[in-house]
Amino acid sequence: MRTANPVEADASPAGLERDMRWRRIFAGAPAQVAEVRRFVACLLEECPARETLISCASELSANAVVHTASGRGGFFAVEVACRQGGVARVSVTDAGSPTEPAAGFPVTDEASGGYVGDLPVSGLGLALVAAAASRWGYSDAGCGRTVWAEASWPVPVMNETFTVTRQPRLTGNRSWRDGDGAA
Ligand SMILES: Nc1ncnc2c1ncn2[C@@H]1O[C@H](COP(=O)(O)OP(=O)(O)O)[C@@H](O)[C@H]1O
Ligand SMILES: [Mg+2]
Repeated sequence: MRTANPVEADASPAGLERDMRWRRIFAGAPAQVAEVRRFVACLLEECPARETLISCASELSANAVVHTASGRGGFFAVEVACRQGGVARVSVTDAGSPTEPAAGFPVTDEASGGYVGDLPVSGLGLALVAAAASRWGYSDAGCGRTVWAEASWPVPVMNETFTVTRQPRLTGNRSWRDGDGAA
């Protein structure tokens, strides 16, 4: 596993190209969610599913902050993993909660007649993760949970003509699109 500030991560020793993982710990504060997006964006710079996974990581991190002990003075961990060609996963491990992650049960606000601006007030985030990701799930992790979302390609992605690069590449000369980088 690589721990890391992504910009400092080592650039592709041959032995790691088929199993790459990066993990970073974040304080459980709302402002850290933007840092998570930057972390994932930097690591997945050339990944065709980059935008999907950034969105998923953002939502899962926000949930860790809002719904778990991570957001009450705790921490959460974000991992980006690429274990095989054409598949990448983001995972968020939180500090625990009595609730369980549940997609697709929008919660309405009784006081406003059930809706705010014609939308339910909560409960849509994981539904969007479920719709955007190829797979998602969660498992127990110590006193908390790891919630993850996985994207595989070729899949329809938001930016069909993704271009490179504002940040240093992390995977040498390999191409994500060809499925031969970070597999
Ligand atoms: N990491 C988590 N641990 C425990 N419960 C969670 C977690 N993430 C989400 N949930 C539960 O699943 C529900 C649905 O989450 P979500 O779809 O993101 O909607 P919202 O965050 O707007 O409530 C949450 O209201 C919460 O009860
Ligand atoms: Mg949410």
